Amino acid sequence: MASYSLIEHTYDVVVVGAGGAGLRATFGMAAEGLKTACITKVFPTRSHTVAAQGGMSAALGNMGPDDWRWHMYDTIKGSDWLGDQDAIEYMCREAIPAVIELEHYGVPFSRTEDGHIYQRPFGGMTTNYGEGIAQRTCAAADRTGHAILHTLYQQSLKHNAEFFIEYFAVDLVLDDDGACKGVIAWNLADGTLHLFRGHSVVLATGGYGRAYFSATSAHTCTGDGNGMVLRAGLPLQDMEFTQFHPTGIYGAGCLITEGVRGEGGYLTNSKGERFMERYAPNAKDLASRDVVSRSMTVEIREGRGVGALSDHIHLHLEHLGAEVIHERLPGIAESARIFAGVDVTKEPIPVLPTVHYNMGGIPTNYHGNVVTLKDGNPDSEVPGLMSIGEAACVSVHGANRLGSNSLLDLVVFGRAAAKRCAADIQRNQPHRELPARVTDRVLARFDRLRHANGSEPTAKLRGDMQRTMQHYAAVFRTGEALAEGATKMDAIYQGFQHVKVTDRSLIWNTDLVETLELDNLLGSAVTSIHAASNRTESRGAHAREDYPERDDQNWMKHTLTWMSDAGQVAFDYRPVHLYTLTNDVEVVPPKKRTY
Ligand code: FUM
Repeated sequence: MASYSLIEHTYDVVVVGAGGAGLRATFGMAAEGLKTACITKVFPTRSHTVAAQGGMSAALGNMGPDDWRWHMYDTIKGSDWLGDQDAIEYMCREAIPAVIELEHYGVPFSRTEDGHIYQRPFGGMTTNYGEGIAQRTCAAADRTGHAILHTLYQQSLKHNAEFFIEYFAVDLVLDDDGACKGVIAWNLADGTLHLFRGHSVVLATGGYGRAYFSATSAHTCTGDGNGMVLRAGLPLQDMEFTQFHPTGIYGAGCLITEGVRGEGGYLTNSKGERFMERYAPNAKDLASRDVVSRSMTVEIREGRGVGALSDHIHLHLEHLGAEVIHERLPGIAESARIFAGVDVTKEPIPVLPTVHYNMGGIPTNYHGNVVTLKDGNPDSEVPGLMSIGEAACVSVHGANRLGSNSLLDLVVFGRAAAKRCAADIQRNQPHRELPARVTDRVLARFDRLRHANGSEPTAKLRGDMQRTMQHYAAVFRTGEALAEGATKMDAIYQGFQHVKVTDRSLIWNTDLVETLELDNLLGSAVTSIHAASNRTESRGAHAREDYPERDDQNWMKHTLTWMSDAGQVAFDYRPVHLYTLTNDVEVVPPKKRTY
């Protein structure tokens, strides 16, 4: 192995990732007087949260009656009863102060006539336990993520958080007892390697949408935290649940916000029918995403798709009028023009369900502590390690996330992690010295990949993975297709042993960055397709044609999936938390889910 010298930094807390969750945690920790580092592979305001459009849910009641208990009910139902009810209670209750704080920090929300935060309807968000449509999603036009991300970055700087920008986090540093002691990162600009010590390391590394061929996710969404956790010998949770957003632009995959349907937009098939009336008679186009994506897929399969190949669906907003579109939905008007050549004031947008969100990820409790199954305890905390945002599986989204609960999750659990660290970590405590072997194993993998000289280009393996996931782990799944897909994914994973990196330099080596990212993506892809093959029921986004019903007796449990370096996958399970934190609300018992 080449010799590498590590530049050591000591902090109270190290946050990896500067999206909404990472920045909310970074800023909250710095504001509490913790010496906080934030390591990010992209400039903070280019993190994928910047692309979040429609908004952030919170039962503020600015546009009509609302209650956080209704929000909690909707989220549990949306999760198809796989969400942990204590965590959902926490999120929906804390949504209200969390969004008001954001307003005070400077997020430029859209406004009602009387100056309150503007809120729009979103799929699955109802009043009075399913009776009416709620206006609960707080929006800054259709650029809400952008507005939040910029505000949180400014607040982090104001509180003197320290940023390490365009540093790629290579791996966690664990001691021999499995406690996390820090993270090793590579400075892409000058090629130096760094050891960041922290009493807590917070993984806020986002999802792994790029395991698929067509995704609304940025190319940077490569599940880097998931990869680090698997290599640390820890499990990922509920990896079988992948959300397809109903309205990705046909051919391009870019997001067209659900806010379009919230503002009155609707879907039609080749016969001009508003087909959602048949599938979800009450909520129609505002049913939850899994329901809408499946309905669109059925319409296309049954020959009622639009276009020359009858392979997509139309989304209409012409009837909303130019004024509403330009005030409330300016960003999607631009995206539709650029990526579909469509003037949305005159023509429908061609759309198709597109991979959008990972409900599964790194298992945590609602404080953000990573948990694992240890000595029979399914809630055993991993010392020194936390995770938040899409990287984590709290689990508030269960088998299907409701739109606008993602920005909420980022902010509420980023804030929760900051509170927990502020309570638990004494400022400026020294770090115990680590034996060289614990950093050497991280450097050895880095060196091996840097000098990888096999026969398989990274781009070829990545393309194989993306096409396999797209084809075999789709909106509808069967045991046969999943088993075939899992076999193919295993072969692609083995193929990675023969990966070829052409550039050996340490400065701006994008070939090596993409190879490290591919290694991370492969862990997520392999565990995802095996977990999907293993779960023999339909629940939320996991729709098995061979097991069309939800099976609470056998499957109302979280899947934990481990993966060895050799690619061997193992499963165990955690019970769903069917309890609440306070007496203010009762557990919502499982029932059939209709919209
Ligand atoms: O449709 C959207 O604006 C996406 C929102 C979300 O995924 O929460």
